[in-house]
Amino acid sequence: MDKKILVTGGLGYIGSHTCIELINNGFNVSIIDNLVNSEITSLKSIEKITGVKINFYMVDLTDYNKMKNKLENENFDIVIHFAALKSVSESINFPEKYMDNNIGSLKNILKFMEYKNIKKLLFSSSCTVYGKPDSLPVTEESIFKKPESPYAETKQISEKLIDEFSNKFKQNSISLRYFNPVGAHDSGLIGEKPKGKPENLVPYISETAIGLRKSLSVFGSDYKTKDGTPVRDYIHIVDLANAHLAAVIRLTNYKSKKYYEVFNIGTGKGYSVLEVINAFKKVNKVDINYKIVGRRKGDIDIIFSDNTLSRKTLNWKPKKTIEDMVESSWRWQKNINR
Ligand code: NAD
Ligand code: WQD
Repeated sequence: MDKKILVTGGLGYIGSHTCIELINNGFNVSIIDNLVNSEITSLKSIEKITGVKINFYMVDLTDYNKMKNKLENENFDIVIHFAALKSVSESINFPEKYMDNNIGSLKNILKFMEYKNIKKLLFSSSCTVYGKPDSLPVTEESIFKKPESPYAETKQISEKLIDEFSNKFKQNSISLRYFNPVGAHDSGLIGEKPKGKPENLVPYISETAIGLRKSLSVFGSDYKTKDGTPVRDYIHIVDLANAHLAAVIRLTNYKSKKYYEVFNIGTGKGYSVLEVINAFKKVNKVDINYKIVGRRKGDIDIIFSDNTLSRKTLNWKPKKTIEDMVESSWRWQKNINR
């Protein structure tokens, strides 16, 4: 196949898992990352798992000239743009930082694509663009409601920019709207490694189970859901990585008449916070110390995907269960705390 792909944010959680699937399927991958939320060991792990040496560029994407100089002599067929800051709480405290980094990086990537005449883009969007949806499950046609955070707003703005850019330059772009990615690679060599206190549920559960955290706070049990705790559509990271492979194959082989396409990437099933905790306990035979506390600001009660379009159009389907998700998360946590 030998298509060349530039992967921004490729050393992060989703990027690293995706690079493995791309390389294992014959794509030639180069990575740009500034390590603001990842470690260089992730590059070594990808190389170890795939047996392939990767071109890596340590560049901050908000610095256009540096990026252009570093990549001047390279040619790419596709860009996959993962690089972004993703902490919802940090974005509430520092909204400008999120606009500057997430929108600034995207604008530079689009400028670079125009300069290098790269005609295909795959973008990391999020279910957060839907806000608090009016009806469930959410389809790609569901409207964007008020963003619950500046982070969410950066994803709404990014999608709009990509839509306009793709139509203006008649290029094919795809945004994948991820639901809640969890779990780790089967090798146990890569997974999610939050810097500091985890914000997301599954890493917090894992760190509590291993003893790094005393107790998990469950944010609210008075939601209108099956057991009162919020419901989300958790998706295994390897299924998510394979959705990128499917989207890259679509961009490579098929010229869609629609220049900009979006796909929900979730399992279509919702699990409550308590269901996830109980699955983790049962599958891994560990205890989780938790207590119910007040609601977390900005949380919605329930969201899960309609993934019909991605199943049909991308010829992709999620294969992993909630049990696989919590099992691989725990295996990864034990590996990094050995
Ligand atoms: P991550 O933080 O693990 O990975 C992002 C990577 O981008 C990191 O390696 C970071 O160092 C790099 N980066 C950030 N800003 C950069 C910059 N200016 N220049 C160069 N590199 C930069 O996050 P992730 O979970 O892998 O998320 C990847 C993408 O998916 C992000 O766009 C995120 O918003 C989106 N997303 C994530 C989730 C989730 O729950 N993890 C859900 C929906 C969407
Ligand atoms: C899941 C549930 C919490 C931690 C976030 C972003 C979203 C997307 C995915 C990027 C919620 C509860 C959590 C804890 C808890 N990311 N929880 N105790 O909020 O659904 O989505 O990540 O685009 O944009 O908002 O995921 O894992 O933080 O929370 O009770 O210590 O777990 O209240 O109901 P969320 P999460």
